[in-house]
Amino acid sequence: MKSTSVKDLYRKTGDYINNNVQVSGWVRTVRNSKNFGFIELNDGSFFKNVQIVFDTSLDNFENVNKLTISSCIIVNGKVVKTENAKQPFEIHAQKVEIFNLADTSYPIQKKNTSFEFLRTQAHLRPRTNTFSAVFRIRSVAAFAIHEYFQKNGYVYVNTPIITCADCEGSAEMFKLTTLDLSKPLPQKDGKTDFSEDLFGKEAYITGSGQLHGETFAQAFGKIYTFGPTLRSENSNTKTHANEFWMIEPEISFCDLDGLMDIEEDFLKYIVKAVLERCPEEMEFCDKFISNGLIDKLNKLLDSEFVRLDHKDAIDLLKKADRKWEFEPEYGGDLAKEHEKYITEYFNGPVFVKNWPKDIKSYYMKLNPDGKTVAAVDLEVPIAGEIMGGSQREEDYDKLVKRMKEMGIATEPLYWYLELRKYGTDIHSGFGLGFERLLMYITGMENIRDVIPYPRTPNNCEF
Ligand code: 4AD
Ligand code: MG
Repeated sequence: MKSTSVKDLYRKTGDYINNNVQVSGWVRTVRNSKNFGFIELNDGSFFKNVQIVFDTSLDNFENVNKLTISSCIIVNGKVVKTENAKQPFEIHAQKVEIFNLADTSYPIQKKNTSFEFLRTQAHLRPRTNTFSAVFRIRSVAAFAIHEYFQKNGYVYVNTPIITCADCEGSAEMFKLTTLDLSKPLPQKDGKTDFSEDLFGKEAYITGSGQLHGETFAQAFGKIYTFGPTLRSENSNTKTHANEFWMIEPEISFCDLDGLMDIEEDFLKYIVKAVLERCPEEMEFCDKFISNGLIDKLNKLLDSEFVRLDHKDAIDLLKKADRKWEFEPEYGGDLAKEHEKYITEYFNGPVFVKNWPKDIKSYYMKLNPDGKTVAAVDLEVPIAGEIMGGSQREEDYDKLVKRMKEMGIATEPLYWYLELRKYGTDIHSGFGLGFERLLMYITGMENIRDVIPYPRTPNNCEF
């Protein structure tokens, strides 16, 4: 007999009451007594477990009564309606096949479930409630992201993972080589000679698909990327990973204000979709991970995000009656403590825009003041900067000048510069860090706990 999914049992309970079904899954808990017992079974299809009731009528009752956590079983039984119970139904077992009795050494037991410990069990932690919720939400959010862009006429572009183009700084890109690292590397003019390497030049793993995305935006108008992004920065924080997923839309005929409108609409769409499609998971996160999470997200849906110039953000920080570890500066970046203060002050997401040019990338549009660029970061509590974007410099001469000032080689990026010669337009784009979005939506406070197998400094287990 084919197994029925637990999700179906919950969503269409009425169709199954008093029918015989088969369910296959893994034991989450067993409560037993002399003549009967209860198994909480999870089959992966649904966040919730199904309760199996068994008694001595089973010919293998003794063995079922000794089932261990994570054992794999196949149950045949009758779906029975329950009154006033936590679950609207349960299954009265007629047959329980023990496909695999899990070893009693199974490491995830009730007494040790700290997130730190579970990181050492990355291959088993998806079986816990927390990670079942987080990774189900991750899947639903990814689909909603595609859905948002597809509904709104964006073309999905797969920008390259291997690249020679410097977008966010080559110092932060992983180098990619086929040169034999156990031998002295070929040299030319006192530097490594990459002409002997596979691509005939120095290559990297991408830290952003933006530059390639811009080329497609000039052909398709609106595009987005959604893919793995790698950065070699040695940042050991709760919000940085060396491998993360980024969504990078690029929009033609769109300035900074238009960009913020899109960012806000987009974020609300994803939050709404997850709230609607993952009610059980979100309820769990609200209860066990971050109290008040659902209210916070509902409030976001009804709010208009604050839009604040970087200069005004610094004013606000300087006026605050408190000591800073890092003094806020008009020419400087925002530290974590600053982001926290600003988002708590406004009690929601805040766009910080028009940043000092010297701390931002070369491709950003220079404002008429000559000092700031049309860049915008969206700041939220805990996850910090979840989106970073800008209007792009569409003027050829200004872009070349800025690249030279910032020490970016123009020659390898000739193709990017050509966009400014052949039909340049006012265009903008942003990057959303997918994991930081997930931290925001689930309330998880460490990026390592929203990535299936996190890659962070000194951590490449599994
Ligand atoms: O601000 P970033 O570096 O911007 C870009 O890469 C642009 N090319 C985007 C664009 O305009 N198309 O990165 C964008 C976002 C950040 O706001 C943050 O959410 C996330 O990517 N991010 C990281 N997430 C996790 N770990 C890291 N090390 C991250 N670095 C950036
Ligand atoms: Mg940024």
